[in-house]
Amino acid sequence: MTVIDQFLESHCLSKEEYRELLSYWEDKETESLLKEEAVRLRKQYYGNKVYTRGLIEFTNYCKNNCYYCGIRRDNRHIERYRLTEEEILGCCRQGYQLGYRTFVLQGGEDPYYSDERMEHIIRAVKQEFPDCALTLSVGERSYESYRILRNAGADRYLLRHETADEGLYGFVHPPEMKLKLRKQCLFDLKELGYQVGAGFMVGIPGQTLSHIAEDLCFLQKLQPEMVGIGPFIPHHDTIYAKEKAGSVNLTLFLLAVIRIMLPKVLLPATTALGTMDPKGREKGLAAGANVVMPNLSPMKNRKLYELYDNKICTGEEAAECIGCLGRRVESVGYRLVEERGDALR
Ligand code: 5AD
Ligand code: FES
Repeated sequence: MTVIDQFLESHCLSKEEYRELLSYWEDKETESLLKEEAVRLRKQYYGNKVYTRGLIEFTNYCKNNCYYCGIRRDNRHIERYRLTEEEILGCCRQGYQLGYRTFVLQGGEDPYYSDERMEHIIRAVKQEFPDCALTLSVGERSYESYRILRNAGADRYLLRHETADEGLYGFVHPPEMKLKLRKQCLFDLKELGYQVGAGFMVGIPGQTLSHIAEDLCFLQKLQPEMVGIGPFIPHHDTIYAKEKAGSVNLTLFLLAVIRIMLPKVLLPATTALGTMDPKGREKGLAAGANVVMPNLSPMKNRKLYELYDNKICTGEEAAECIGCLGRRVESVGYRLVEERGDALR
């Protein structure tokens, strides 16, 4: 039996086997076999529904210095901003009107947003929108902090592990950042009852297929409710300015693999994928993704939350992301729904 058949049958492989499976990523036949199975599973659990998450990028201050990221601390070339609680609520109101039932508060690791401030914001959002899910994406915090935010009403948490390989993690992050802590945070979040999202970038400098096999094993072990993956895209103010971007096709292959490995997972077709290919998000949906995360941030801030170059939906065209995405989603046979879209257990 080939490793491909084995994977299709058991949905689970060892690291060496994942490494072998990944060696087929450019093989058209394997690609369509995996995509077919991914789409079948996605349909089985989610029909033709696509969930929307309104992304509110509420601060671009960050105390970290990840080498790949445009908003890292040492980037002196960007203007920093923070949204007030009232501005955040304004985004939610607009989003609710447009049909969003999940809001994602994402930001750099910004110490200004202490537990007290975050708690206040979370309570305000949940009080005004009790039928909506609230997702946080604000990086590494202590168990106690995660507990406070969870008690305040946060439902979900996105924290990409970025890479599950110690060596590569150390290569793309400054020495003070530790993979062990990142992983610990993810397990803490799970224990506290958050629906948890992990994930990684495809094609960051130094990454090999063996590293990606390690990522897949980590996801298999963590069993996250959500997985965010997208191609690495260089940012002009980082040391990776001249590196090449990650592959769209490898990302699509991995979306299919992840859907098969974790059949009920909530899997976004990411903005980075849409940035690298004008049809990237549609292709993502056709490879097993079932979530889109349009930007709900105020227009005036969007260009300032630039993790990588040429990010889409930051200009005038983005006034109506939801309409644009609705058409895109329908073009591949799916439909956007006004639901929280919680993880299936
Ligand atoms: N290219 C693609 N994705 C990036 N991210 C950060 N920088 C980049 C980049 N240059 C991703 C990280 C982070 C998420 C919010 O954005 O994976 O977790
Ligand atoms: Fe934002 Fe298309 S989704 S402009």
